[in-house]
Amino acid sequence: VSTLRARVENTATASVGVVALRFDGETLWALDQRRLPFEEVELRLRRAAPVADAIRVLSIRGAPLIGVAAAYGIALELFHDPSPASLERATTTLRAARPTAVNLAWAVDRVHAAALNGGAAAAVAQARAIHDSELAASAALATAGADALAGVTRVMTHCNTGALAAPGAGTALGVIAELARRDQLEHVFATESRPLLQGARLTVYELSKLGIAHELIVDSAAAGLIAGGAIDAVIVGCDRVAANGDVANKVGTYGLALAARAAGIEFVVAGPTSTIDPECASGSEIAIEERDAGEVRHAGGQLLTLPGTRCRNPAFDITPRELVTALVTERGVVRAPTRESVLALLPG
Ligand code: MRU
Repeated sequence: VSTLRARVENTATASVGVVALRFDGETLWALDQRRLPFEEVELRLRRAAPVADAIRVLSIRGAPLIGVAAAYGIALELFHDPSPASLERATTTLRAARPTAVNLAWAVDRVHAAALNGGAAAAVAQARAIHDSELAASAALATAGADALAGVTRVMTHCNTGALAAPGAGTALGVIAELARRDQLEHVFATESRPLLQGARLTVYELSKLGIAHELIVDSAAAGLIAGGAIDAVIVGCDRVAANGDVANKVGTYGLALAARAAGIEFVVAGPTSTIDPECASGSEIAIEERDAGEVRHAGGQLLTLPGTRCRNPAFDITPRELVTALVTERGVVRAPTRESVLALLPG
C-alpha cells in the first residue's frame, strides 16, 4: 500500500476528484475502498490473484470498475508469466471473483481473446481500450441521463455508483453530478446500503467532494420518504441488465423500485452497455451473489447481534423491467425497456 498522492490523470476524473484505479504500465494502483471515507490509501497490485482478492473483498467494487481492474489483472499476470497456462489461470481466477456484475466476465473474456492472439502486449492494449471506453461511456450517459430528467430536482440513490464504481464520473451518480452541474438539483438522499455501507461510506464521500447537498438515510426510511413526496426520482446503477430489461443491482433496489411505482415517480437505471447481458433472457437467470453472514452480523467491526446468529446475505436483487421507467446508457435512453429496445442498444 502507499498513501494516496493527489494525481489527476484526465478531465473526467479531475471534475470528480477521485481516482479509484490507475495503471502506470507496470502496476495497477487501486484506492482501497474498504478504508474509505476515513483513509485514502492505494493498493499496489502486480499479479492477477491480488486483483481478484481486492475485487472479492470489495477494495475494488462497482460493476464497470471491477471489469476494468480484472482486465488489467490478466495483463499483469502475463507480464510475470506469458505462458498459455498462466493466461487460463488468470482468466479463471478473475472471472470467478464475483458472479453478478457481467462487466467482470465481459472484460475478462475480451482480454483473454486479445491475449490468445497477441500475448501480454495485446492484453494490456485491450485493458486500456476497455478503460477508455468505460470512461467515455460514463461521460456520455451522464449527459443523456440529465437530458432525460427535465424537471427532476430531488433524487434518491442507492449504494455507490460514482467515480469509485466506474471509470470517470460513474453511472447513476454521474447523472446526479451532471444535474448538479446544470444547477438543476436541489437535494439528494443517499441510502446507507447495509450491510457494507457503500452509501454511507462512499456516496457521502463523493457527494461531499462534489459539493452536492445531500442527506444520508437508513435503508428502511426510503419507502416512507418516497411515499411522502420527498423526491421526484430514484436513480440507481446496475450490475447486470438482462435482455428483457430486468435489472440486477445492490440489494434493496427492488424495494426502492416498488416504492417509486406506488408513488408514481421515475425509477431510473443508469449503466454502460457493457452491463447488458444479451445471453441472459431475464432476471431469473442472473446469479445473485451470496456473501458471508459475518457482514450482516457486524458493522464497522462491531458485533450487532448474538454471535453465531444465522443470516442471509444476498448482495443484489432483481428489479423487473416493468418497474423501470428509464434505462440510461451511453448509447441512449430507453423508456420502459423491452427485449427489443434493450438489445437495440448493443453495438453490431
Ligand atoms: O457490491 P458492490 O458495491 O460492488 O455493488 C455495486 C452496485 O450495486 C452498483 O449499484 C453497481 O455496480 C452499479 S454502479 C457502477
